[in-house]
Amino acid sequence: MDKRKIKEQIFEKIIEYYALKKEEERFVPGESKVHFAGRVYDYKEMITMVDAVLDFWLTLGKYDRLFRDAFSKFLDVKHVILVNSGSSANLLAISALKSSQLEHPLKKGEEVITPAATFPTTLSPIIQNNLIPVFVDIELGTYNINAKELESAICEKTRAIFLPHTLGNPNEMDVIMEIAAENNLYVIEDACDALGSKYDGRFLGTFGDFGTFSFYPAHHITMGEGGAIVTNNDSLSSIVHSMRDWGRACTCPECILVKDPNAMCPLRFSYKTEDLPEDYDKRYIYIHEGYNLKPTDIQAALGYEQLKKFPDFMKKRRQNFEILYDEFSKYEDYFILPYSLPKSEPCWFAFPITVRENARFKRRDIVQFLERNNIETRLLFAGNILNQPAYKNIAYRKVGNLANTNKVMKHTFFIGVYPGIGEEEMKYILEKIREFVWRYK
Ligand SMILES: Cc1ncc(COP(=O)(O)O)c(C=O)c1O
Repeated sequence: MDKRKIKEQIFEKIIEYYALKKEEERFVPGESKVHFAGRVYDYKEMITMVDAVLDFWLTLGKYDRLFRDAFSKFLDVKHVILVNSGSSANLLAISALKSSQLEHPLKKGEEVITPAATFPTTLSPIIQNNLIPVFVDIELGTYNINAKELESAICEKTRAIFLPHTLGNPNEMDVIMEIAAENNLYVIEDACDALGSKYDGRFLGTFGDFGTFSFYPAHHITMGEGGAIVTNNDSLSSIVHSMRDWGRACTCPECILVKDPNAMCPLRFSYKTEDLPEDYDKRYIYIHEGYNLKPTDIQAALGYEQLKKFPDFMKKRRQNFEILYDEFSKYEDYFILPYSLPKSEPCWFAFPITVRENARFKRRDIVQFLERNNIETRLLFAGNILNQPAYKNIAYRKVGNLANTNKVMKHTFFIGVYPGIGEEEMKYILEKIREFVWRYK
């Protein structure tokens, strides 16, 4: 039997296996967990991943290329660089802005504006790069920075803005990009929760110098673990390639040797530096203090298959959000509902809810009720990150008293809208919300 035939048989068995596995996953109201997020897949992901395993290339190769091409077409962005997590994408974005390859790199002690209600690895790279975070408050309902307040945070030391689009809700990108241009600031969009969201008809992650994405299973598509950094800027893309790959001088978007291991790279022995021997192999010349933050081709294979499903995922997320919004809008006396700015088309990561301070119950009551009934909830990440143990002693500046950020820490939580929440799960969620609210009528 030839290899092709064996492969076909393996794939047929995967389809059988998947069908059996799927049967076990039936939803039983009250007994099965309604997750806030999770993997949504079928046999196609399994087959494509196994195909990558059988190729046994392992490191970034064919599927990296396929994913990057498809992702850059989807987002309409020039460069896509795969990494092993959204956190790594954030680390590379900030680190790249300090590269000596840039004409005006960020310098130690300079400032980066960012919201105080944030995810830890949006903030940590700022600190790890010896930059000073400047914290700005967010608005209740959008859970994003107010653009006017952002402007008031700028001083002569400010060099960049690092903005998460909270739970997929777009920041006011036209105003923010204008402020950045007027003040000569770099913009990094943390779009880890915002794949598929648009502002003014354009995908988030493509406005700033960098956009970052996460492909952890909770996110809009998954690679198991994984992430991407996107940019339209050729030099920033080169710098990120170098830093992702040990800091070496090789910065081609794709190594010629991946396509053809026997090829001769024309650039390998012609890289000139002052202090190294003339014939020094470029693969061992280092222009940055780099990392190795690459994922495997097996992860890329999974992402490639997930991306094909993404148009359906987007629809489902939006539908689920609308259903929850319709239900919760009946109880506005108790809850602050999420909202988006004009020109925004969010592809929500989740449905955020803030319990009003004058409601007859507390966040704890509704969260515990939902959890007891097997409906997963989560808090808005770190809340006011300055209150988290890890960040107690950092150097920072803040603007105002972060009143809303503190409210989020006490009163906000979210539930899921991911495509794994089907009609039955949603019916169950609505029933339970009604049951809870009824107790306080
Ligand atoms: C806003 C935001 N940024 C960054 C990350 C980090 O992504 P990863 O888990 O892939 O490292 C997350 C993860 O959930 C996130 O929500």
